[in-house]
Amino acid sequence: MFSFTLAVSALAALCIRAATAADVFAHFMVQNAYAYDHSQWKADMLSAKSIGVDAFAMNWMPPDCQGNLGWQEDRIEDAFKAAEEVGFKIVHSFDMSWDNCDKYWNTTYMADVLQKHAGSKATYRWNSNILVTTYGGDRVKEYGALFFADLKAKMFFSGNAISLTPALTSFAEKAQKNAASAAFDMIADFAVIDGYFNWQAWPMYDNVNNTIDADEVFQSAMKKAGKSGPYIMAVSPWQFKDLDNGNNMDAWVAPADWLFKDRLESLVNGEVQPDIIELLTWNDWCESHYLRDLPGNSTSSSDYANMGRLEAYVAGQNHSPWRIMTKYYVEWWKTGKQPEITEDQVVFWYRVHAKDAQCNQGSSHIRNSDLVEDAIFAWALVTKDSRVSMSLGDNTYYDFHADNSGPATGSIPFPKDLGGSEGMRPEFAIMQDGKTAYYGQGSKRITSWCSTKNFNPVVNLIGQGSDNRGHS
Ligand SMILES: *[C@@H]1O[C@H](CO)[C@@H](O)[C@H](O)[C@H]1NC(C)=O
Ligand SMILES: *[C@@H]1O[C@H](CO)[C@@H](O)[C@H](O)[C@H]1NC(C)=O
Ligand SMILES: *[C@@H]1O[C@H](CO)[C@@H](O)[C@H](O)[C@H]1NC(C)=O
Repeated sequence: MFSFTLAVSALAALCIRAATAADVFAHFMVQNAYAYDHSQWKADMLSAKSIGVDAFAMNWMPPDCQGNLGWQEDRIEDAFKAAEEVGFKIVHSFDMSWDNCDKYWNTTYMADVLQKHAGSKATYRWNSNILVTTYGGDRVKEYGALFFADLKAKMFFSGNAISLTPALTSFAEKAQKNAASAAFDMIADFAVIDGYFNWQAWPMYDNVNNTIDADEVFQSAMKKAGKSGPYIMAVSPWQFKDLDNGNNMDAWVAPADWLFKDRLESLVNGEVQPDIIELLTWNDWCESHYLRDLPGNSTSSSDYANMGRLEAYVAGQNHSPWRIMTKYYVEWWKTGKQPEITEDQVVFWYRVHAKDAQCNQGSSHIRNSDLVEDAIFAWALVTKDSRVSMSLGDNTYYDFHADNSGPATGSIPFPKDLGGSEGMRPEFAIMQDGKTAYYGQGSKRITSWCSTKNFNPVVNLIGQGSDNRGHS
């Protein structure tokens, strides 16, 4: 469509990038870290660091919002210690979206927390100021522009000025319909902000591949308004949530089949150049966009998370191989140079039941569920000429070519016959030099029925670094 101009501007962009920050945050739900000890924090940070993540953005609830959540502050304290040891950074992401609190955030408390860590080398700074992010702050009446102005003033007079970069979600959502007017309104209503974190990593309404148009509009509007803070772009592999509570907003899937790859590629192509990207998320089980390994399921594990209802769509739905994609594109984005491919790896993802399957449990309608494709998706990084083969039922040995010039992709649709009550496992192979170099099967079966509605995919790996040798 726009390949020629794109190629030219991509080259120009790659040269310029060296001068700007290109940092990567991963959004971290502190609510899911109740069981974390010092070594668990270190393990998570080292895992994140190994794929190019620089900092965790700590999402935490007001400590007296509902019951006593004061333990979150203790975990954050532990996280700072661990981060100092492993050379990692921490950013606060105050969760200001809760609108049914006994006690809301107040600026005295927030300023105390920020000052407490101001001397830590793990505190992430933007142009020497402490970077402060949020989730929300524009929708709950207890907060707003004056609240933020007060926080900024307190921090300024304490000698620890902040760069205020909130995720004002109402404007992100508005921007999906009209980005220019959303950006205009935001800058008028929230003159106090220094930077902006555009939360909208997912197309919410239509079957579009990405939303970098809104990113560009916000970024350039902030720049024109003379803002000195960073522009943070949200990047996410998926979104599926079903609280089964009768609220349509809490039962949705994003049309995300290729979303992750497309958004990461728009960065390395130079189509968009945020200062920072924030991966949504490291460990949000509820919305199915975690990159971390699944949590421990024994109450004694240091990464135990009490899943409750979420168990129905998270248990066994591993996403870890998405970190391979993350690492590859993040390195490319940070260095401006396409990484050399040194291993043969193919990442696959698929949903575990047909989109029109009848389920006993879960919301009767999942918003956008008609927009996802019943298919298996593959992303290949290989060191030499290969055919990547995929089979599922009657759809046997579909294959595509891959080589060491960069990622190759392919997908195959679910067949009409999904194999009765047992369902079926997809099979994958990498063929090299006329032989099967790697073979593996999907970790879950795909069925035409389901007990609970589940639009969260499983993500599998074959090739180097995988122990996938097929299942019986
Ligand atoms: C501010 O918030 C903290 C934490 O919830 C709380 O302990 C404190 O009482 C609050 N202060 C005021 C004045 O509400
Ligand atoms: C999204 O991108 C994929 C390839 O990455 C392409 O196959 C698909 O047609 C695109 N969808 C739309 C709606 O443009
Ligand atoms: C708990 O986790 C282990 C190891 O990941 C797994 O083998 C087991 O099936 C899980 N049990 C439950 C009840 O999810």
